Amino acid sequence: MKIKRGIILLTVMVVGIMLYVYSVNAGLFINSSHGNSTYGVYRTSIANKGYSRGNCTHCHEQHASIDNAEPDPASGSPSNYALFYDNYINQTDGVCLQCHTEVGSYQQGGLVNRSYSYRAGGWTNDTLNDIEEAFTFSSTSTPPGTSHHLDDIRTFITGKWGYTADSNPCVACHNPHAATGDPANAPNSPKSAANRGYPISRPSMHSKDSNAWGVWGDAVNEKMNSYTANYQAPYRYNSTTSYEPDGSTVQDGSNLTDFVSFCTDCHNTTYNSIYSTPLGRNLRTIDWANEKHGQGAPDRSLSRDAPYGNSTGLVLSCTDCHEPHGSTNQVLIRPEVNGGTLSGTITTIYSPDTPTTRPFTDSNKEIGYLCQRCHMDDYDYNTSCQPNRWYYAHHATSNNPYTAWRCWNCHPSGGGPPSCNTDVAAINCNTCHFHGATISSTNNGTVRGF
Ligand code: HEC
Ligand code: HEC
Ligand code: HEC
Ligand code: HEC
Ligand code: HEC
Ligand code: HEC
Ligand code: HEC
Ligand code: HEC
Repeated sequence: MKIKRGIILLTVMVVGIMLYVYSVNAGLFINSSHGNSTYGVYRTSIANKGYSRGNCTHCHEQHASIDNAEPDPASGSPSNYALFYDNYINQTDGVCLQCHTEVGSYQQGGLVNRSYSYRAGGWTNDTLNDIEEAFTFSSTSTPPGTSHHLDDIRTFITGKWGYTADSNPCVACHNPHAATGDPANAPNSPKSAANRGYPISRPSMHSKDSNAWGVWGDAVNEKMNSYTANYQAPYRYNSTTSYEPDGSTVQDGSNLTDFVSFCTDCHNTTYNSIYSTPLGRNLRTIDWANEKHGQGAPDRSLSRDAPYGNSTGLVLSCTDCHEPHGSTNQVLIRPEVNGGTLSGTITTIYSPDTPTTRPFTDSNKEIGYLCQRCHMDDYDYNTSCQPNRWYYAHHATSNNPYTAWRCWNCHPSGGGPPSCNTDVAAINCNTCHFHGATISSTNNGTVRGF
């Protein structure tokens, strides 16, 4: 029965493609990176048959009419959607990654792509140079790291927004018939105001009709300043005059895709059982309307590193801290944030659930490498204190959202003389700082906060 279904599917596909060409040609595809006649899709074996660069046939083959040598679908039967390779196999294999890899690519010459820290952050020292590599990061990779787990994404989207079990998890976030490069055809350049494009499409707007499923971020109401009037762009790498994402002086998010609406299509409070294989548990939910780094108001007024300063009510984008594909840090934390690299690698994120059983060591403070990029650590307050120590952050103000003299809530063995240079163990940062943490001002239990 499987073969029969394959043939029916194929027939539907061929007719579908023929009908489609009219509308697609006139529309998005020709403007997409894949459909571009100068730098679009190009497999040598297909070009040898006379198909021009950017033709659908470089991805879709009707096996009856195109008798070419490479490659048969790995499953042995015609691929879904009549693609030249299985739509999706696993984290490091599938039709997209057969081209989006630097070496051994079906795309003539291979494809170099970069991290978000490189392209938006302007951190051109990043050696990560293709999409396959970004999705290879795991607890057992060399170097170790994390990547968005594609099997879990596929499970999550199946049955939602018109996706099926045959859908490609890359297509949860990208429309292969519409995506444009940012920058296009410039793999070794960061984003630039002169050459913008829009690689993503929102999963909640997914439609099988490519013309109906446009890219996200190009329209005025799809920008970060449409989500919030209180966005402050981080600096570009090594600069205090140019800002993410495109290196211009624009700081209000009017040139940034609204990534909050994009990421929270999935990471919100409705979908409270998103399973994560790498983490071995369901993800915590994210309520950006209330979190302090989201639209929630801060409790007190401590100054922060430039360009954030003393402003209150600021709202961050998910991509100010997270990579979309993969990272050498835990939970996709960017290696470069707000104009500089993290001072170390974040190898461990602790579960907040059993706070008192863990000793306080420097490794328990790795998350501080991230906070340091935007918040003032003890060294920033006073150069006779140490970097990535956080005495001031928790003791410097009087308007704390917790009862400061309850030393034992935060220090397992009570407090000690109050000074930034006294070694006093505190429970690890993740006990209190994680998405969705709350603070109990009555202090009848654990003190928490993002
Ligand atoms: C970069 C490779 C690529 C190119 C080029 C490409 N497609 Fe596709 N197409 C795909 C993938 C991958 C899918 C499967 C999408 C999914 O998993 O939902 C697909 C799906 C489709 C579908 C089924 C739509 C759906 O979501 O059910 C049609 C129809 C289609 N393509 C037509 C075309 C036409 C016509 C062209 C040229 C104008 C074209 N494609 C060019 C990769 C490509
Ligand atoms: C969870 C959503 C998500 C998934 C899944 C995802 N991506 Fe992305 N991808 C993004 C985001 C966000 C960006 C950055 C967009 C921007 O810079 O505006 C991006 C950027 C890209 C870029 C552009 C990079 C550059 O150098 O310009 C490519 C190519 C890409 N993704 C391919 C893929 C492929 C192939 C897969 C599957 C193996 C995939 N993506 C899976 C969200 C995703
Ligand atoms: C036949 C080879 C091929 C396949 C298969 C392919 N791509 Fe591409 N892709 C390209 C080329 C070529 C470009 C343009 C590169 C450039 O800008 O120079 C591109 C560009 C992109 C871009 C725009 C960002 C950029 O680098 O310019 C995204 C996003 C993207 N591809 C995602 C995907 C996804 C998702 C899939 C699978 C559904 C896929 N691609 C499959 C060849 C391919
Ligand atoms: C299509 C749905 C979808 C979208 C859109 C999406 N995610 Fe995810 N995300 C998932 C799923 C499913 C998981 C669980 C699998 C995993 O851990 O990677 C996940 C996991 C994560 C994790 C934990 C990764 C780990 O294993 O440590 C982070 C961090 C994350 N997402 C951030 C983001 C950010 C930032 C964006 C926007 C750029 C985003 N996600 C967009 C579905 C999505
Ligand atoms: C990209 C910059 C950036 C990074 C990285 C960052 N923060 Fe923040 N943080 C801010 C900004 C900006 C605010 C102010 C938000 C507002 O005005 O509502 C803030 C506010 C806070 C608040 C609320 C303070 C109050 O007065 O209520 C806490 C708590 C906090 N951050 C903790 C952390 C921790 C812990 C880390 C590291 C895990 C971290 N932040 C990393 C930019 C950042
Ligand atoms: C809200 C939780 C909290 C409360 C309550 C609290 N502390 Fe702290 N304290 C911390 C954290 C977190 C640090 C930073 C630890 C680090 O960076 O190594 C810290 C740092 C310190 C340090 C510097 C330690 C070092 O190694 O740099 C001293 C001393 C200290 N606290 C004493 C006290 C005393 C005394 C009290 C009670 C009067 C108290 N703390 C109450 C959270 C708290
Ligand atoms: C016992 C709980 C607890 C622990 C452990 C803890 N913090 Fe905090 N932290 C808090 C609370 C509560 C606040 C204030 C939150 C607020 O004002 O909204 C805070 C505030 C912060 C801030 C924001 C300062 C500002 O601008 O207002 C940073 C940054 C921070 N902590 C980093 C760390 C780091 C790094 C560690 C580990 C060394 C750590 N914290 C450990 C409870 C804790
Ligand atoms: C200030 C930096 C910062 C920003 C902005 C930020 N995150 Fe995170 N994110 C973190 C840190 C640190 C962790 C690890 C602690 C934790 O699990 O909450 C994390 C963890 C996660 C996780 C894994 C949660 C789990 O169950 O362990 C997901 C999913 C995630 N973030 C998604 C998002 C999304 C979606 C947004 C935007 C709406 C966002 N993040 C914005 C810093 C940030």
